[in-house]
Amino acid sequence: MKVAIVGGTGSFGRALARKLRSLDHEVYVGSRDAQRGRERAIELGVQGGANEEVVRGADLVVLATKSNATLDTARELVDAIGETPVLCVASDLAFSDIGVLPGREERSLAEEVSEIVRGPVASGLQSLSAAHLAAPELPDEDALICGDDPRAKELALDLASRLVGGRAVDVGPLANSRALEAMTAVILNVNREFGVTAGLRLTGLP
Ligand SMILES: NC(=O)c1ccc[n+]([C@@H]2O[C@H](COP(=O)([O-])OP(=O)(O)OC[C@H]3O[C@@H](n4cnc5c(N)ncnc54)[C@H](OP(=O)(O)O)[C@@H]3O)[C@@H](O)[C@H]2O)c1
Repeated sequence: MKVAIVGGTGSFGRALARKLRSLDHEVYVGSRDAQRGRERAIELGVQGGANEEVVRGADLVVLATKSNATLDTARELVDAIGETPVLCVASDLAFSDIGVLPGREERSLAEEVSEIVRGPVASGLQSLSAAHLAAPELPDEDALICGDDPRAKELALDLASRLVGGRAVDVGPLANSRALEAMTAVILNVNREFGVTAGLRLTGLP
């Protein structure tokens, strides 16, 4: 599968690119700066370039820019992404004196992305930290994926299943990205409280 990682120069994108390369996927990392994309790609042993170049011809586009740039980036890449399925990994968060909070109360970033791009959108991997993704062994956690389109969700689940030691779990329609994105705030508070990098594991599955 050819996977293009928009914002693939960041900590999550680089960790994902390395992992996917080791799984023999064809990986492209994108950047706003084509030169930076190419340089990071060489370090990672993958292909790279400008975001709008790398998404063309991909089987799956992972939107992994800094979260607050997700919507603008999706708007800029509408034509380049075309009908290609998109996986949104972003969480909108608010950092306050009392802790980390969900950054939005109603619609998720992923739902908004799905109204911008023409391809189908799945959402997930919010609870999988870049640090866990970068570790040599698969992390002991599950990867949660939601979406309304079966094809996009299947691609995202297939990808996610190779990134964790647990399971890739279909958690329903795209609107459930509200919970996945808000869960990042929960995890970050746990990380702060216990000085850890936490992940998620569902119990009771067959
Ligand atoms: N870090 C994690 O542990 C983790 C875990 C799960 C999900 N995520 C999600 O993954 C996404 C990336 O996280 P990250 O930690 O890798 O972020 P990051 O390192 O802060 O940023 C990723 C990339 O976004 C691009 N970028 C920065 N500002 C931008 C702007 N204004 N417009 C367009 N692109 C911009 C940069 O690439 P260029 O400058 O090269 O364009 C940067 O390398 C986020 O949505 C995050 O919520 C992260």
